[in-house]
Amino acid sequence: MSGKKRVLSGIRATGRLHLGNYLGAVKGMLSLQDNPDYETLYMIADLHTMTTPYDPEELRVNRREVVMDYLAAGLDPKRSIIFAQSDVPEHTELAFYFATVVSVARMQHLPTFKDKVKQYPKAVTMALLNYPILMAADILAYKAELVPVGVDQEPHLEIAREIARKMNQTYGTDFPEPQRFETSGGYVPSLVGEGKMSKSVEGSYVNLTDSLEEIKSKVAKIPTDSGQGSEISGGVKTLMEFVELFEGKEKRNEFENQYRDKGLRYGEIKSELSEAIFKELEPIQKRRVELEKDTKYIDKVIAEGAEKARKVAQETVLEVRQKMGLA
Ligand code: TRP
Repeated sequence: MSGKKRVLSGIRATGRLHLGNYLGAVKGMLSLQDNPDYETLYMIADLHTMTTPYDPEELRVNRREVVMDYLAAGLDPKRSIIFAQSDVPEHTELAFYFATVVSVARMQHLPTFKDKVKQYPKAVTMALLNYPILMAADILAYKAELVPVGVDQEPHLEIAREIARKMNQTYGTDFPEPQRFETSGGYVPSLVGEGKMSKSVEGSYVNLTDSLEEIKSKVAKIPTDSGQGSEISGGVKTLMEFVELFEGKEKRNEFENQYRDKGLRYGEIKSELSEAIFKELEPIQKRRVELEKDTKYIDKVIAEGAEKARKVAQETVLEVRQKMGLA
């Protein structure tokens, strides 16, 4: 595997994957897995799940669920190292060492932190403040150079680059400055009009496991207007963004011209779009049904992934311990 550039990405274990995760991250993960120039590591960020209020039983279930979604979407344990973050304790160890080069103020001023504080004002924990440092450790434990994630993660990648630079300057390590790998669906809007598609906003997302009926009823709720006007904004813009993602740019242009001209009829557009979304998800759903029958296989994938990941992460931690005066 030497000589290959490393790729690392992760998704929090907050439940089944949704369309936003799929377009924003998983599609990018898949294309890099298929590229022989890269060694790919994909994890389930179960520790990051614990940075906001969570239920232990749900977490236990969701660790497996995300792995099943990964495999159903096409991630392949023969070509990628698939593992759970908490099974590689080197991540938390490295996060502590990295915390020594990051100021509290830098963390408190991050927009991602401020958003979470607004969302959970009664649960502003040290774990939440440390979120970006742990994420930097996830990436740098493998000296990964490319990170396929949604654009909303850019502030966290900037922290990872700052930590890499600071560690290299201060302790003579050779961490790369990781870059985001962009995918066409880097930003997937929420179905309820504002912001991005997110597990934490009810009604904002389509699950990868949703039936055609469920997709139709969610898409039907995208807020629209009279169907005619000079400027496209709000829910109509969201609808057009989905049309582009699933039916192409030309279709979007066609509809947008119609909006300015003789007007749009949303019923047909929404039902066509729902069909297009379902068509993309159907093969994933079929594979998932098969995987659900074999939980032993899922556990084996997670266990073997952790072993492979640890070999790499342990080398990095040993190097850091030596350079920081601990060994
Ligand atoms: N913060 C990421 C998200 O919410 C999840 C994540 C955790 C991650 N660690 C990572 C993504 C490391 C990429 C690399 O999407």
